[in-house]
Amino acid sequence: MRRTLLAAVLLIAACAYGKNEISIETSHIQLVLQVKDDGRLYQTYLGERIEGIDDLSVFNMPRLRRSHTLTRGFEAYPVVGTEDFFEQALEITHADGNPTSVLKYVSHEQKPGEGFTETIIQLRDDVYPLSVTLHYAAYANEDIIRQWSEIKHDEKGKVYLGRYYSSMLYLEERAYYLTEFASDWAREMQMSSQQLQYGKKIIDSRLGARATMFAQPFFEVGLDSPASEEEGRVLMGTLGWTGNFRFTFEVDNNGALRIVSGINPDASRYLLPRGQVFRTPDFYFTLSSQGVGEGSRRFQRWALRHQLHMGAEDRMTLLNNWENTYFDFNEEKLTNLFGEAKSLGVDLFLLDDGWFGNKYPRSNDKAGLGDWEATREKLPNGVPALVKAANERGVEFGIWIEPEMVNPKSELAEQHPDWIIRLPERDTYYQRNQLVLDLTNPKVQDYVFSIVDRLMQENPRLKFFKWDCNSPITNIYSAYEKEQQGNLYVDFVRGLYNVLQRIQAKYPQLYMMMCSGGGGRSDFEGLRYFSEFWLSDNTDPVERLFIQWGYSQFMPSKAMCAHVTNWNSRASVKFRVDVAFSCKLGFDIGLKGLSEQELHYCQHAIAEYNRLKPLIFSPNLYRLYSPYEGPHCVMQRVSDDQAHALLMAYDIHPRYGERVVPVRLRGLNAQMRYRVREICLMEGQKSRLACNDKVYSGDYLMKAGLAILSASDMTSHIIELTRE
Ligand code: DGJ
Repeated sequence: MRRTLLAAVLLIAACAYGKNEISIETSHIQLVLQVKDDGRLYQTYLGERIEGIDDLSVFNMPRLRRSHTLTRGFEAYPVVGTEDFFEQALEITHADGNPTSVLKYVSHEQKPGEGFTETIIQLRDDVYPLSVTLHYAAYANEDIIRQWSEIKHDEKGKVYLGRYYSSMLYLEERAYYLTEFASDWAREMQMSSQQLQYGKKIIDSRLGARATMFAQPFFEVGLDSPASEEEGRVLMGTLGWTGNFRFTFEVDNNGALRIVSGINPDASRYLLPRGQVFRTPDFYFTLSSQGVGEGSRRFQRWALRHQLHMGAEDRMTLLNNWENTYFDFNEEKLTNLFGEAKSLGVDLFLLDDGWFGNKYPRSNDKAGLGDWEATREKLPNGVPALVKAANERGVEFGIWIEPEMVNPKSELAEQHPDWIIRLPERDTYYQRNQLVLDLTNPKVQDYVFSIVDRLMQENPRLKFFKWDCNSPITNIYSAYEKEQQGNLYVDFVRGLYNVLQRIQAKYPQLYMMMCSGGGGRSDFEGLRYFSEFWLSDNTDPVERLFIQWGYSQFMPSKAMCAHVTNWNSRASVKFRVDVAFSCKLGFDIGLKGLSEQELHYCQHAIAEYNRLKPLIFSPNLYRLYSPYEGPHCVMQRVSDDQAHALLMAYDIHPRYGERVVPVRLRGLNAQMRYRVREICLMEGQKSRLACNDKVYSGDYLMKAGLAILSASDMTSHIIELTRE
């Protein structure tokens, strides 16, 4: 009887709670929204999930702020035109020219999706026929929340969106420390942190294509204290948009922080036709109370399960010819390289730039882009002969394309000048002698789709595409958009997604690498279509440790292409291989330049890599030593059952006589006993580690640690731990 009563009380409490409040929850995070007396929707809590329905009632306390005459709350999706004077989520100019709106709560529902619970909240303006739908997909198991909004109006005249963000989050802490990821060609993902003070800090991109060349769309905000690897609270976020993005971090007059994320509205005043839904891109975030390490593991796990194209499937090791041959190759040379790929032991040969163009052959980067026919002089038997020859030698074949781009010196540019984004009657600015095709135009979309489609029709055994993008959009003007130029940046990305969706629907098992003159394109929406991405043209292993460290904050290793090249040949081949070993391994090196011993090492490392892939691709990453904090870098991956782990340790440029201390492992089972074995040794090399081939308890390894670092330049150790 008492039990029934209790259940009834709880049900009543839940209903009351459910009436005005909406709780969006994962296993460890909670975001609570509340409809207040003014009929508008406010954020009342964002933090660690609070157990117990009674405690949730505290959110009923209005969390309003007073500042002289101003009273306001944390409106979930504030619009220009209200009493909120800080950065708003939406700005819409109605057909009569009025730039103000007020959104009132209408209804909400919560329903299950694939691996998440979706909360859908309807808001409406009571003066104008404007509706906004907020979506929150909460992935309980991975502790990630995905957020987006849909904007729609029913006005007769022209309605413009001035800003249209995906997400607005508020935090109230004593201090905020932002970590950002600045970039440039060959310097991707450079991490730096700063404390946020009153006012705005903006991280954005205006590049259109190659959009993340200068700033990567990721951030971390340490709450109260700077974000550290295994401790402290941190909010980590990213936007899934392969174009211009913007994050605004604004500390207001009361010391509260708002984080506004979405498409960069600069030069993108969007004309929204009546009845059409404007869907913003997805913003993803997690809030970890165990530092960025836990946040990274969540993002990696979530990406493998829910986002990355073929996230559950295997990946192929490869030999690329770019740095080995550049544009200088022919059928015979390539055929020999197929043989090299086979003897190296990789799965696939990847033919890079320079295989196409006849009227204007692609013998350098000045001509040919756009003309996707094999150059007869170089490759008289076309791509089919290459695929066949590679397959006969026992390797798969992949090919490079840059399908969104065109050289003015190409047949495509001659035939379709109106397909190119460029300003009429003005000087034209080029990056790498090329321009961007106008993907807002459905005919251009068809053409770009047909590049992949034709190659696949002609070569059904093609397994892999490297899809490059070497230029931002310069001279922004579209003949297709006409007077709607403000829509161009957004519609370009949507056009790209259209093409990628068509490719994926027709060729669901095709591996594709997203590449953009290095890591100029890396975002989670792109990774719905691409199985992996190219992090950087900088393959100096020392630089790569920093770049890989940066990307590993969010990206799974399975998606992070790392190739062994001749950059920094002062580093041993072993060191170069060992650095690439921690990601998706490939080679871009001529085997003839390797000694027999070096070649053997590569072959051996590939075999070990194949054996250990499940571990290398595991999301359970523990970053133990940061290259940002000293001349070493150590990372560890652990299997889900904790029976197997891999330690990857690198000494970079230690100081003379530097004192090194044991490295404490993480994520192991304290009760299990592990055999420690150094693997990936050069032929004839014996491990010099005292711990090699010894057995330790997980407790010992995590508390006392292993002496695996040294004071020698560019030295590496790959160490396997197996449960006894
Ligand atoms: C830029 C890429 O990052 C390189 O790997 C290579 O594919 C070149 N483009 C080819 O032009």
